[in-house]
Amino acid sequence: MEIKACIFDLDGVIVDTAKYHFIAWREIARELGFEFTEAHNERLKGVSRMRSLEILLEVGGIVLDQKAKEFLAEKKNNDYLKYVLQMTPDEILPRVKDFIEELRQLQIMIAIGSASKNAMTILNRLQIIHLFDTVVDGNKVTKAKPDPEIFLKGAHELIIPPANCVVFEDAEAGIEAAIAANMKCVGIGSPQNLAKANLVIPGFEKFSFHKMNELLK
Ligand code: G6P
Ligand code: MG
Repeated sequence: MEIKACIFDLDGVIVDTAKYHFIAWREIARELGFEFTEAHNERLKGVSRMRSLEILLEVGGIVLDQKAKEFLAEKKNNDYLKYVLQMTPDEILPRVKDFIEELRQLQIMIAIGSASKNAMTILNRLQIIHLFDTVVDGNKVTKAKPDPEIFLKGAHELIIPPANCVVFEDAEAGIEAAIAANMKCVGIGSPQNLAKANLVIPGFEKFSFHKMNELLK
């Protein structure tokens, strides 16, 4: 397989926004009268905003109508944005920028494939938007991961066949989406949670294009 494009999830791969999502969701749970823990928060990784709220409500055993859900999702997002708008380039996870720069030198096409509707805001805060040939985010798709739509759209925008794309993902739903898109997948995290990926790495330290090529063979 010849690697011609790399598609990066954003949250949990390039930057750790999970901690901000957690603080904002925990606040919503507290207002509703229950505790939302970090273990519960694991279930929200890679999941869309509305689906995240539904999981949170399941945890609290609370049923709300659509209007109330929309109100809470917006409230959470306004709170979350307060943290996002204070982010700096220091928060980019170790070595990921070097890896992306290496890919650019090798003329590999590069995309973001993120469920987040805040992806552009985050990329701007991190000052790395110029590194990507295209950004497919939650505003451009109708189906959430594990549906392959996000990654297929990314490949389409890069004009590269899916079979020549590698996806970088930290969430199980994202890995399933990559497999469904007929792409190779590198999991970022621990092998226990990401068993379906072709290759799992703890992070981008000591990682390179050459290494990836060898390991994905
Ligand atoms: C990513 C995160 C999820 C988040 C989703 C939507 O996939 O891993 O935790 O719920 O994006 O993010 P948004 O910024 O649109 O609320
Ligand atoms: Mg993620």
